[in-house]
Amino acid sequence: MPLVNAKEMLEKAKAGHYAVGQFNINNLEWTKSILLTAQELNSPVILGVSEGAGKYMCGYKTVVGMVNGMLDELGITVPVALHLDHGSYEGAKKCIEAGFSSVMFDGSHYPIEENIEKTKELVATCNELGLSIEAEVGSIGGEEDGVVGAGECADPQECKMIADLGVTMLAAGIGNIHGKYPENWQGLSFDTLDAIQQLTGDMPLVLHGGTGIPADMIKKAISLGVSKINVNTECQLAFAAATRQYIEDGKDMQGKGFDPRKLLAPGADAIKATVKEKMELFGSVGKA
Ligand code: 13P
Repeated sequence: MPLVNAKEMLEKAKAGHYAVGQFNINNLEWTKSILLTAQELNSPVILGVSEGAGKYMCGYKTVVGMVNGMLDELGITVPVALHLDHGSYEGAKKCIEAGFSSVMFDGSHYPIEENIEKTKELVATCNELGLSIEAEVGSIGGEEDGVVGAGECADPQECKMIADLGVTMLAAGIGNIHGKYPENWQGLSFDTLDAIQQLTGDMPLVLHGGTGIPADMIKKAISLGVSKINVNTECQLAFAAATRQYIEDGKDMQGKGFDPRKLLAPGADAIKATVKEKMELFGSVGKA
């Protein structure tokens, strides 16, 4: 099945009280592992591409070519969206041109008026082309591929202003952080989330920083309207640990264990296991 935008899968998730996972990709192994797991579990999935990862993979056109090729060659039939993660205004335009089915415009570092203005423009373009669009209010703490956020909680009124522009989904800062959570993390602000959902109604809400959020908080966030959860670091940690183990066990020195297809296999399997665990937790299994 060709790429789809994320609108229908997220509206279904919101109505069905589960969340669709966005898993960030870095290369062929990542993409293949995520797509095969989604297919095996009959789950919709969103492939996230940060601007840094897009550059690393030789540009957005290369990414689109790789993903479209895999959907066809692997016989993927579950809904898959290819989504720009934390895009700049220019980055969003480039992804739209390259053939992404969904984009995030992260205007959270601009004054709200400018965030509204730029989001509005991109909403019009995406609507015209049938793409989905995610906007952001407040900010996600920590750092991801050079995008740094202070982690301030979103103002629910500002969320409403952005939601009213017709965005498909809204990422609101609620104390979530990219990367590992610090020991003294205060947890998610459910009061903020609740206030946002009261004002934004059916709009699917997005929870960034999915790595390391305890299961009970994930479930509570879903019950308060979160229908897309982003996971990046956790797949990286799982891949690195499995690869380290392979090398520490000396397996790369045995026979043809140095063959990249063998060397990268435990890491790819670790990504699959992580994605499976998250899809089960988010409740998207069997929802394709
Ligand atoms: P983590 O790296 O913390 O899982 O966050 C991913 C994310 O929010 C991508 O935008």
